[in-house]
Amino acid sequence: MKTIGVVGCGLMGRGIVEVSAASGYQVVVREINSDLLDGGLKAIRQSVDRAVAKGKRSEEEGEALTSRIVGTTDLAELAACDLVIEAIVEDLDAKTALYSELENHLSPAAILASNTSSLTVTQLAASTQRPDRFIGIHFFNPVPVMKLVEIVTTLMVDPNTVTRVSDYVESLGKRSIECKDNSGFIVNRLLVPYLLDAIRAYENGFGSLEDIDEGMKLGCGHPMGPFVLLDFIGLDTIYNIAEIMFDEYRETRFAPPPLLKQMVQAGHLGRKSGRGFYDYG
Ligand code: CAA
Repeated sequence: MKTIGVVGCGLMGRGIVEVSAASGYQVVVREINSDLLDGGLKAIRQSVDRAVAKGKRSEEEGEALTSRIVGTTDLAELAACDLVIEAIVEDLDAKTALYSELENHLSPAAILASNTSSLTVTQLAASTQRPDRFIGIHFFNPVPVMKLVEIVTTLMVDPNTVTRVSDYVESLGKRSIECKDNSGFIVNRLLVPYLLDAIRAYENGFGSLEDIDEGMKLGCGHPMGPFVLLDFIGLDTIYNIAEIMFDEYRETRFAPPPLLKQMVQAGHLGRKSGRGFYDYG
């Protein structure tokens, strides 16, 4: 693989662009309009500059990395990509509409992947003309830091696709684990009920936000307590994931608690909106 395409330059997409370009790949990233594209590219440049300022990369490496990234609003510019990773909004219709337009431009051999965290990869793969070359590649936030990538396989995927994608993930210096296609895969299947349970514990008055966070940080060695992590991921993101997982499994442990729903409705989305369980004002 030489050229990686990324569709979506939001939090996850821009991280995938950065780590791919850092590992020597040419990267084409597509956003739906120039404002979103410029914002995403600016965030990548800031992240690279921070790494240079901290001495993690030399200035030349930083420049070489950014020179390997091309931004576009035109899907046709992804035509030369060997692997295209979709990292757009977690919405089945939006994803399938994108794939049907994108496939008009891709080479027949190109692999198409989704960074979905909760939709089943099978339903995404089945909507394309290349289910044997369609796979889940699930990165974790913040992408430049988190070492894990889940590779999600379906009944239809070709083993050669799995091997090529595993090689790509390894070339980024990350560790992959292979997951059979199930909503939430391995990590979110365990993480999401834990986070929802923390909200229920708080709703039921078990302890303050700070004490529940301290409990899990100091008692279990987690880098962040559940409420700091919820605010970090984004409450709207967790709410959507929980809804999708509840819909799939019909188990109450995946059901979003009323407090989470109310906070999303109130626009308290976590760090990104300045307020979530904590105030970032
Ligand atoms: N981009 C790039 N680098 C970043 C970064 C970012 N957004 N945030 C932090 N870093 C880097 C820092 O530069 C720093 O690097 P150095 O030590 O080399 O200087 C390092 O990460 C540690 O950062 P800090 O010292 O500022 O802060 P920290 O020690 O508290 O670590 C953290 C921050 C890495 C985010 C850590 O708190 C952590 O691992 N938290 C848990 C994150 C987590 O669970 N992520 C998974 C979310 S779930 C998900 O993504 C799946 C899904 O589908 C919802």
